[in-house]
Amino acid sequence: MGQSSPALRLADPDAFVDGVPHEVLAEVRATTPVLWQEMDDQPGFWAVLSHADVVTVARRTDVFSASLGGIVVEDMDPETLEMVRGMLLAMDPPRHSIYRAPLADTFRASVMAALEPTVRSICRELMDRAAEQVEVEFVHDVTSGLPTRVIGQLMGVPESDWERLHELAQQQAAGQDPDLAGDTDLSAASIEMAMYAIEFAAERRATAERNPDAEPPADLSTLVLAQEFNGVPMNEIDFGSFFVQLVTAGNDTSRTMLSSGLHVLLEHPEQLATLREEPSGIPSAVEEILRYANPLHYFRRTATCDTELGGAEIRSGDKVAMYYTSANRDEEVFDDPQRFDVTRSPNPHLSFGIGAHFCLGVHLARLEGRVFFEELLAGFGGIELAGEPVRIRSNLNNGLKRLPVQLTR
Ligand code: HEM
Repeated sequence: MGQSSPALRLADPDAFVDGVPHEVLAEVRATTPVLWQEMDDQPGFWAVLSHADVVTVARRTDVFSASLGGIVVEDMDPETLEMVRGMLLAMDPPRHSIYRAPLADTFRASVMAALEPTVRSICRELMDRAAEQVEVEFVHDVTSGLPTRVIGQLMGVPESDWERLHELAQQQAAGQDPDLAGDTDLSAASIEMAMYAIEFAAERRATAERNPDAEPPADLSTLVLAQEFNGVPMNEIDFGSFFVQLVTAGNDTSRTMLSSGLHVLLEHPEQLATLREEPSGIPSAVEEILRYANPLHYFRRTATCDTELGGAEIRSGDKVAMYYTSANRDEEVFDDPQRFDVTRSPNPHLSFGIGAHFCLGVHLARLEGRVFFEELLAGFGGIELAGEPVRIRSNLNNGLKRLPVQLTR
């Protein structure tokens, strides 16, 4: 096989528990931008470390398939793989474009901007609740409440069901961390969420049939259920997968942006002070948070043919992982890349991917990030660490599971 590096064990969830090995990544990236990584009980994979090569893999959907082997480096059993292939993330063209094109309009910036008052009122409610406690565990007590509530609102789910959806989303996010997963059955949480969505869709369609003249609710569910994909409406089972996908894709990523964001700002108090003085700098700070503390380490593709990339001879069928964690600190693209700088511009980070699968929720995520930090900084004059932050044990999710802080009005 190709060159490997004993200092990097990117498939091992324990390798990230004490922090991301950015120095080793920088050394390896300089000589071996596409690096072979072994896995214990299955074939290894190519880790793509440079910005330019990540862009190539993401853009060449003909050579690097999202569908063949799915989007994580661990191989899946055929049933799970089939389920995953129902998500946009793991579709290849032309199917991918058929499903994505009708949705793209709904997720555009101007449509998401209309959600700002809702996002702000959810943020204020979370801040008010946090203010009642002397000390909060920021990940669970504050940030985790936002993304599922926003998706609930976007999809038109009754507010009384948001809490249950939130619990199910939390169970799914537990992933490789036994401390978070406990006895939770991850697939049971996904199935329960999909069943909820299937019933929700059936109820929506039945109501529309009973009252054909009534105006349907103006939400994403109405749009998706009325839409034709390749000439046919989406059936309720596909709607279930679509729903689970939106909740999962937007949940722990957005939550991580908020909690890691606060953590890096606390580590850089002078930059936090700048933002307090000049809140108009928050959107640029959110981009830098995403670059510096990207919520996802990588997504995977599978080579459809033999090819060469960054000096590596990739064989048809090989797994290829695009490491945003490394690309975001590529010195060929970013000045002083290990430095956190809330005024960095330009900032072509790859935390939302690039190319055909570029994050559909990007405008929503940016809106959540901006409004959340505006409300947090306006709401609390004092924010201090109140204990050691603890990282999630995962080779995919780059985030915190605990961030104890003290908030004062
Ligand atoms: C900070 C928050 C977020 C981050 C870092 C993030 C990251 C990503 C990345 C890296 C991809 C590309 C995957 C690939 O190339 O294989 C992606 C795709 C996607 N994201 Fe996000 N995401 C975030 C928030 C959201 C939100 C809030 C939603 C929806 C409500 C969302 C929905 C999606 C969907 C549906 C896709 C698949 C698009 C496609 O395959 O065409 N994401 N996201």
